[in-house]
Amino acid sequence: MYKITDNSFVSSGGNPSKYIITDLIENTIQQEKQNNSILEYEERHEKEEHPAKIINLMDEFQQFIALHVLLNNHEGAVLDVGCGISTKHPLYFKALKNSNLTYIGLDPFEKNQTNREYLFINGKFEGLHKHIDSKVDYLIFSTSLDHFENLEEVKNEIVKILKPNGLAFFWVGVHDANVISRWRLSYGLFENFNVLSIPDLLSTLIKAPLRILYTFLSILIRTIKLKKKIPLDNLHFHYFTEESLEFYLSSVGEIAGVKKAPLSNSFFYAIKPH
Ligand SMILES: C[S@@+](CC[C@H](N)C(=O)[O-])C[C@H]1O[C@@H](n2cnc3c(N)ncnc32)[C@H](O)[C@@H]1O
Repeated sequence: MYKITDNSFVSSGGNPSKYIITDLIENTIQQEKQNNSILEYEERHEKEEHPAKIINLMDEFQQFIALHVLLNNHEGAVLDVGCGISTKHPLYFKALKNSNLTYIGLDPFEKNQTNREYLFINGKFEGLHKHIDSKVDYLIFSTSLDHFENLEEVKNEIVKILKPNGLAFFWVGVHDANVISRWRLSYGLFENFNVLSIPDLLSTLIKAPLRILYTFLSILIRTIKLKKKIPLDNLHFHYFTEESLEFYLSSVGEIAGVKKAPLSNSFFYAIKPH
C-alpha cells in the first residue's frame, strides 16, 4: 500500500519514490493491442509531434477540465488514467501543472518508467485501489476509455478510487457516421481554405465532389463493420457512438458537464460518481 503525498509515493517503512510499479497487463489480447499502439505513441506522444488539430483538441480538453476544477474544489490529486509514455506533462495538463493540483500519471507501458517529470504509477487501472491507501479528487481518461477491455471493471474501479465529491473527466472520440463524416470533410476540404484565393477556390470546387463520394464509401464500410461488430482497427476494444457513450457514462455517475469540441468527433464529459 502506498500513500500519495504532493511529491512522492511512500510505502510503510520504505523510502519516498517518484514512481511505483503496480499490476501490469497480463492478458495476451490486451498486450497485443498495446504492442500495436506503441510505435505511434513513440512518434507522436513521446516527441509531442501531434497534428495541429490534435493540439487544439488537447487545449480544449484542458480548458474543459480547468473550468470544472474551478467550479469544484480547486485542488487535490489528479490521476491521469492511461497517460501514455511521455516524460513531460501531457499538453492537456501543461497549464494546469502550475495550479494547486497534484498530477499523477498512470500507464501500463514501462517506457520512461523512471525519468518522468511527474509522479508515475506504472500499472493498469483495474485493481489499483489495492495499492493506494487514499482516494483521488479527479480522474482523467484522455482518449483511453476505448482501450479498456472490460468497462464494468473500469466503472467499479472509478467508484473505489474517486472521492465521492470528485470528478472524472473523459475525452472520447465517437464513431457515428454523421459526426465522423462532417469532421473528415471539414478538415479534408477546409482546413487551410482561403475563399479569396482563386486557385484555392477552384481546387476545392474540383476536389469536393470526389472527397464527398470517397467519404460516403468509406463511412458506409465503417458503418457496416460497426453493425457486424467487426473491429475498425487493431488498437481499440470499443467504438463508442454518442448514444452508447452517454449510456455508459450515465451508469458511472451524474453528468456534471458535457462539451462537443467543434469540428471534431471528440466529446468531453465531466462525471460525478453515483
Ligand atoms: C490513446 S492513448 C492515450 C494517451 C494520453 N492519455 C493522450 O491522450 O495522449 C491510450 C492509453 O491507454 C493506456 N491503457 C490501455 N489499457 C490500460 C489499462 N488497462 N489501464 C490503464 N491504462 C491503459 C495505454 O497504455 C495508452 O497509453
